Amino acid sequence: MKVLVLHGPNLNLLGIREPTVYGKLTLSEINEQIKSYCQELNIDVEFFQSNYEGALIERIHRAVTDSFSVIIINPGALTHYSYALRDAVAAVQIPTIEVHLSNIYSREKFRHHSVIAPVAVGQISGMGVHSYLLAIQAAAALYR
Ligand code: DQA
Repeated sequence: MKVLVLHGPNLNLLGIREPTVYGKLTLSEINEQIKSYCQELNIDVEFFQSNYEGALIERIHRAVTDSFSVIIINPGALTHYSYALRDAVAAVQIPTIEVHLSNIYSREKFRHHSVIAPVAVGQISGMGVHSYLLAIQAAAALYR
């Protein structure tokens, strides 16, 4: 089983970016935790982070030919307004799980709405790094 983990804009700054909201782990440390959990579950995992909407969209398109079974995406702020990203997720028909480190519903009003959620299988929000790990667990249980 192959899982693609996508991180959107500004997530490369984790560790120094608003640590009271997003925690102190860097993106590499988060990826390391995901990787070791995937090893336990015998899942192949690849990571991609971009600050560019188009780069994320093109990575999603390529996920089809790369035969990924599941996409796990933290779209960052694109969550709240990117119809283009949403259309990419809908187009490829690869089950996609939306994750957020912070609880988007307990924050500013503009974060309460996700344009990605309607085309995702489900959403995990507010669990820090565990949002990703729970998504991996769900991916293995549902789509192996
Ligand atoms: C985020 C929440 C978004 O609202 C924000 O723009 C991010 C990170 C999260 O993981 O909590 O960049 O997706």
